[in-house]
This record gives sequence, C-alpha cells and structure tokens, in this order.
Amino acid sequence: MFSRPPGPKPHFLIGNMPLASPDPLPIFSAWAAEFGDIFYYRAAWLHVYFLNHPDLIEEVLVRNPRNFLKDRVIRNSRWFFGEGLLTNEGDSWLRQRRLSAPAFHRERVSTYASIMTSYAKQTLSHWQDGGTRDIHQEMMRLTLQIVVRALFNVEAEATAEISSALNLIMSNTTGVRILLPPIARYLPTPRMIRFRRAVARMDNTVYSIIAQHRGNQIDSGDLLSMLMAARDEDGGHMSDRQLRDEVLTFLIAGHETTALALTWTWHLLAQHPQAERKLHEELDRLLGGRVPEFSDLPTLTYTERVIKESMRLYPPAWSLARTVISDFELRGYRIPAGANVVMSQWIMHRHPSYFPEPEKFDPDRWSPEKAQRLPRFAYFPFGGGPRQCIGSSFAMMEATLLLATIAQRFRLRMVPEHPVMRIPSFTLRPKYGLRMTLESRSPVSHSTQTGQGAQISASESGHALALGPQVLS
Ligand code: HEM
Repeated sequence: MFSRPPGPKPHFLIGNMPLASPDPLPIFSAWAAEFGDIFYYRAAWLHVYFLNHPDLIEEVLVRNPRNFLKDRVIRNSRWFFGEGLLTNEGDSWLRQRRLSAPAFHRERVSTYASIMTSYAKQTLSHWQDGGTRDIHQEMMRLTLQIVVRALFNVEAEATAEISSALNLIMSNTTGVRILLPPIARYLPTPRMIRFRRAVARMDNTVYSIIAQHRGNQIDSGDLLSMLMAARDEDGGHMSDRQLRDEVLTFLIAGHETTALALTWTWHLLAQHPQAERKLHEELDRLLGGRVPEFSDLPTLTYTERVIKESMRLYPPAWSLARTVISDFELRGYRIPAGANVVMSQWIMHRHPSYFPEPEKFDPDRWSPEKAQRLPRFAYFPFGGGPRQCIGSSFAMMEATLLLATIAQRFRLRMVPEHPVMRIPSFTLRPKYGLRMTLESRSPVSHSTQTGQGAQISASESGHALALGPQVLS
C-alpha cells in the first residue's frame, strides 16, 4: 500500500511533510527549482504529484476535469461548508452552479458597482489622517458587507462577528489539523471547543440572513431569492440546510479572497512608491476625485494591472488540489487512482520562464502585448475549467473599484515594527494582520477629467466622501 507509484523522481519526506509545515511555500519553491515541471512526494499516506507547467495544469483543469474530485482538504471541510458550490460534486454541483450563474452574469454584476463604492465610502468615513488600522480586517469587513448586500440583499449586522469566527476557523485549517480524522473535532480541548463555538456562531449568522430575507418577502432577483425560488423535478425546494450551505459558501468564498487581494495590494504599493505614483496619476487624471463607476472600469487600466500583479505575487488562493478518480497518463507518467495532484499559483506565478525577475512587483507586465504572450495557465488566480471561480468578474470589478476609491483619498504606509508574515492557510493570509498608517491625500486636478459622479472635495481630508448619485438606499 505504501509502495511508490511509478512516475517521476520521488522526493520522500520523513518528518518534513509540507502539510505539517507552517509555511510549505519555500519547500515547494525549492522542489520546483530542483525537479521542474512535475514531481512526486509522499506526505504521510498521501501520494502527491505536483504540477508546475501551464500545459499540465490545463490538462487537469480543462481537458480531464471529470477524472478528478476536489482534494482531501476540501472534502474534509465539508462538515463545515456542507454541500455548497465549492465542495459539491457531480450532478448536484452542476445544478447548483447553473442556478447561481445568473447572479454573476455581466449585466447583473454591473449593478453591484454602486454597492461596492458606497460601502467603500462608508469605510473611509471612519478613517482619519494619521490613524492606524489593521488593513486586513478593514478589507475583510468591507468585502463582507458588499457580498451580503449584493448577493443576499440584506444588511450584514454581524460582520465583526463573522470576521472573528472566520479568523478562528481559518487558523485551524492549516497544518496537520486538516488531516485529523473527523472524531478529533469533538475532542474537548480548549482549541477545539473555541473552534466549534466559532462554527456555531457562523451558523447562527447564516440562518439569520436566511430568516431576514424570508421576512422581507422581496424577490429582488438576488442570489438568495433565486436559490429560494428554485424547484427540483418533484417541485421540492431547497431545505434550510441546503440554503445554509450555499449562503455560507458564498459568504466566505465571496469576501475573504477579495479582501486578501486588496490587503496584499496595499502592502505592495507601500513598498513600491513608483507604482503607487503611477496609480495616483491615473486615478487623478481619469477621476479627479470622482467616485468611480462601472463605466470607468475599461479606462482604469493601470489600476487593474496593479491588482493582477498583486495576485501574481500574493495569490489569495495559493494552491489547488484534486484527487484522481481513474489512473491516467501525464507526460508519460502514470498517475494512479487515489493519488493527489497539486497545482500552486504561488509557485507557477513565479516561474522565471513566464515572469522574468519573478519577485519584482511590476504591474506593466500586464500590458496587453506582454500578457497575450503568456500561456493560459501560467497565471490562474481564479483556477480554470468548469470549477473556475464563479465570482471572478465580481472580484476583479470589486478590487478595482475599491482600490480606485480608497487610493484617491489615502496613501497607506506600513507601521515599521509590525511583523508581516504570510500564512498559507486555506487562503494566503497575513498572520498578524497588516497594521498600516493612513495618510490622507487629495487628488491633483487635471483638465482631462471626465464623468458626472460625486466629487471628493480636497478640503475634506480625513472625512467622508461627498455622496453623489451612488448613495446607499
Ligand atoms: C480575488 C478574489 C477571488 C479569488 C482569488 C478566488 C479564487 C477562486 C479559485 C481559485 C476557485 C477554484 C477552486 C478550485 O478549483 O478548487 C474559486 C472557486 C469559487 N469561488 Fe472564488 N475567488 C475570488 C472571489 C470570489 C467571489 C467574489 C465569489 C462570490 C461572490 C467567489 C465564489 C466562489 C465559488 C462559489 C467557488 C466554487 C465554484 C465551483 O466550484 O463551481 N469567489 N475561487
């Protein structure tokens, strides 16, 4: 049972399993440099094949998706996510995916723009020049408010509660804990007791969102209305438990990743004043203090490049993994049923063949001429194939609009003594948060300003933006 399957040169690990390491990324990087496009290792009883070439990743995600299941980590998280879109498989997944899709169509997503900027303005109204904030927590709260309003059409009353429960839950998904048998979750250790309480708090919040929505009795075409209205062949509707699984999945998948993309973007901009200057120049020239709108998105090219480059260096989802259903061949190697296949955005996005000087933060890599030369899966922050992120357009629009709204008003600086440590948990989080100092800035006026939206008055330093046509109802 423990013999090595035939395949590439193995790398056996004794007492050094990447999954047990608090930060497996340097280990993976070293192996990728040494073993190349594909390599094999064993982590306890798991046979793992690591793919580090765009064509091999495409082979798994796009050409043969039916031969793979979500991996053990995702399967183990089912007790928490239930059968939501992220964890579900087969026909049930397909049905739910089709049901949810209209909420992410372009026309629908465009209507979310004003929700996004309105909540950004609300956040800024609490920020003052010279203040310090944990920017990770600020971005988490902001994106959570947005997703709850956009997808479920209710106000998130307990966003702080959700964030704190989520912090606790996420800190328990790293390392060997994910490999523990389910029974371990019921151990009466203080950590597990805190963990179970956090999950119960999340559940309460989710059920209250469902109840609030039912109470409102408004079918406004939002995602939750669509899910509630759905009927199966027998005319039955989704149970509260099924609704809970979907709502919880969208709540978590729909806010923490975008919050992380923005958090790491602020961190990178603080370290790269030249890129920051270019960003400000674009925002001042195109918006001149105006709150961005959906129609501005095609012109905010440098702003979008900053986000893309930030997700190259700090991909919020830092790896994808699948379990093989039937034996298959890849580059002449037989990958057996039951083995795991791992593809890491963190590693692939640093491949020097596709990204020269990979550690350099250079948003201009994303100019159309350069970007179109890249193979499809050299860069895959949102995954790919049928299981590609359903919220990718939502996320790109949100990150661009929030960056544009906030960067017009504030420059963020690192608090010098604050430790910045990434932790590849379920997602790539800053372990100690990201404490930053807020420096207010006023847009430099340009004669080429366009648009009719709300103006940010230069004299308003540190206070709420003037509300224009995008006031939250
Ligand atoms: C920068 C932000 C985001 C990143 C980097 C991201 C990344 C990803 C990735 C890599 C996957 C694929 C996982 C896999 O194949 O195993 C995924 C799936 C998913 N994402 Fe996102 N995501 C982001 C934002 C969002 C948003 C805003 C939403 C919803 C509003 C969302 C909802 C989902 C859902 C429901 C799935 C499961 C889709 C399925 O399996 O059918 N994500 N995301």
